[in-house]
Amino acid sequence: MEAFDPMNRLFLTGGTGFVGGRFIDRYHRRFGITALVRGDSLSGKRVRIATGDLLDADSLLSATTGCDAVLHIGGATPNRAYAAGSFNATTVGTRNLIAAARAHGIRRFIFVSSLCVLFPGKGPYARSKTEAEEAVMRSDLEWTILRPDTIVGHGAKDLGRTLRLWKSARYIPIIGDGAYTSQPIHVDEVCAALASALETSASVGLAISLAGKDLVPFNEFARRFCRALGNNRRRFVHIPKWFVYPLAGIASFVHPQWGLNPERVNIITEPHTVDLSLMRAVLRIEPMPFEEAVRLTVNQWLRGKTASSEPPEHRTAILP
Ligand SMILES: NC(=O)c1ccc[n+]([C@@H]2O[C@H](COP(=O)([O-])OP(=O)(O)OC[C@H]3O[C@@H](n4cnc5c(N)ncnc54)[C@H](OP(=O)(O)O)[C@@H]3O)[C@@H](O)[C@H]2O)c1
Repeated sequence: MEAFDPMNRLFLTGGTGFVGGRFIDRYHRRFGITALVRGDSLSGKRVRIATGDLLDADSLLSATTGCDAVLHIGGATPNRAYAAGSFNATTVGTRNLIAAARAHGIRRFIFVSSLCVLFPGKGPYARSKTEAEEAVMRSDLEWTILRPDTIVGHGAKDLGRTLRLWKSARYIPIIGDGAYTSQPIHVDEVCAALASALETSASVGLAISLAGKDLVPFNEFARRFCRALGNNRRRFVHIPKWFVYPLAGIASFVHPQWGLNPERVNIITEPHTVDLSLMRAVLRIEPMPFEEAVRLTVNQWLRGKTASSEPPEHRTAILP
């Protein structure tokens, strides 16, 4: 089994999104990238554009022509999982992409899933990722699945909305007691993990969790972001989860773009720790402390630059 040669052509989905856009910015010189787009929103980036849709099998067949590996980042996120077609973008879309890869003899297939496939009580988003993972694992491709925890960084749509509120609000709502933990990871380290997975044949056949170094209770998550944003006058108002649930249900229908829905409430409030052993041993990545991830995110956000114009600021620690 060969490691991915940077001279080969990489087919990338999700290039117009938060993670895929950042991957292009950081790695367009290292890999020859062909990016799947539905519109023309990637114009100006130094990648080859292939127009198509994950739900259109024929478009994928022509878009993947001449490629040697697939990096499948695109699909629904929890805020979109309630909108029509989002579930299928991940399930049917992944199956279509596997079929296109097989048709062209493309062997290497990296799929970005989510850590929430490991959580109990799955909603539509987690179910769509689980179904897509099963299709990837059943395929005869040389696959790697990556499961990120919450990703922070400039350009994250939901986090951006949250930071706008946290920068100036006097009272900040927190769901429940805020003691539930996660291990947020910076987007640059997710991108480094994707590049490493591509280049390391040892990652084939593995599902690898991606997370930050520190276990962070949500109260601490909010406190550190508020402090970095200069909002020292804020007060946290704890709202019982049973009260937020019905509101989230209504919001998901009335204003799906707010990104509030019952599954998202569950994902945010699911306390968990993440096993980083494969991330370290196979991908050779040592994640940065949470404080550093907050600093990078807020600095870039306050400067108000678009993700595409940012120079890479963080050198991911690669283990020897
Ligand atoms: N952000 C997080 O905290 C987080 C955590 C864990 C896992 N993940 C996973 O990481 C991946 C990237 O997340 P993200 O935050 O970058 O998401 P994002 O900003 O919402 O981007 C989603 C991307 O998927 C594309 N897409 C959606 N449906 C499509 C379709 N039918 N055909 C073609 N492209 C389609 C979108 O294209 P358009 O621009 O055309 O809509 C966009 O480029 C996702 O798979 C997500 O589930 C994210």
